[in-house]
Amino acid sequence: MRKPEVAGFYDTRTGSIQYVVACPSTRKCAIIDPVLDFDEKSGSTATTNADRILDYVNSHDLTLEWILDTHPHADHFSAARYLKSRTGAPTAIGEHVTEVQKIWQQIYNWPDLACDGSQWDRLFCDGETFNIGELQARVMHSPGHTLASISYVIGDAAFIHDTLFMPDCGSARADFPGGSAASLWHSIQDILSLPDQTRLFTGHDYMPGGRQALWESSVADQKEKNPHVAGQSERDFIRLRETRDRTLPMPKLILHALQVNIRGGELPQAEENGRRYLKIPLDALPGSVWGS
Ligand SMILES: [Fe+2]
Repeated sequence: MRKPEVAGFYDTRTGSIQYVVACPSTRKCAIIDPVLDFDEKSGSTATTNADRILDYVNSHDLTLEWILDTHPHADHFSAARYLKSRTGAPTAIGEHVTEVQKIWQQIYNWPDLACDGSQWDRLFCDGETFNIGELQARVMHSPGHTLASISYVIGDAAFIHDTLFMPDCGSARADFPGGSAASLWHSIQDILSLPDQTRLFTGHDYMPGGRQALWESSVADQKEKNPHVAGQSERDFIRLRETRDRTLPMPKLILHALQVNIRGGELPQAEENGRRYLKIPLDALPGSVWGS
């Protein structure tokens, strides 16, 4: 089994991990889940994270072949569109993003939004394969957190984003529009059926107990140490997940981020004064827990 080189880039503002995964022999690489920086208090955007990743690609003599997202994120803007503008590399996401687009088209009241996934260069279906140099990447549909989520299995590594976090951080929430704890359970079982030594790279880490940020585990670690799966039945997991999700306020950027991310990371068109505006629907997520 080929072993890709994996570099993780932690974004402290959102607790997200962005990845560069590279073929050691050809030096071709992919970027997974890049973050476009956004400060909701001032409305400022920046490309600090994405530029840091590009610096890494350039300084390691890597050639970027793919800009990949695992799902439309609710906690940050995707930098996919920015990175494409800088490098020309194609963007991709899971094909079920079209269903997520339709959900949010209603919420944002955007009849003109193209809900055909045409904002990406490629839409992956379950089981599809593609290459990063001499590495073969396989797509696994991993719904639950969102109905469009996919994992990328590349050599001995799997990029599982918001399914399982590090064993001491549990699993991702499954209560966003289109989310499902039952689907998440089945997606996690698919991940845990990979070989025990498979390196698992998660999409978020929230540093429980003040430990440093971590993002790499293995199938064996998760089976043994993650209380959301170790010794759990499907029924228990669903109960645990749904009970916990009922206590969680929405992510602070969900309404900001989805309108950008269902368009592949493209910021809103500038108005005639040259300024871009976000659109925030009121009372669109009934039953949400109030955040402080
Ligand atoms: Fe997410």
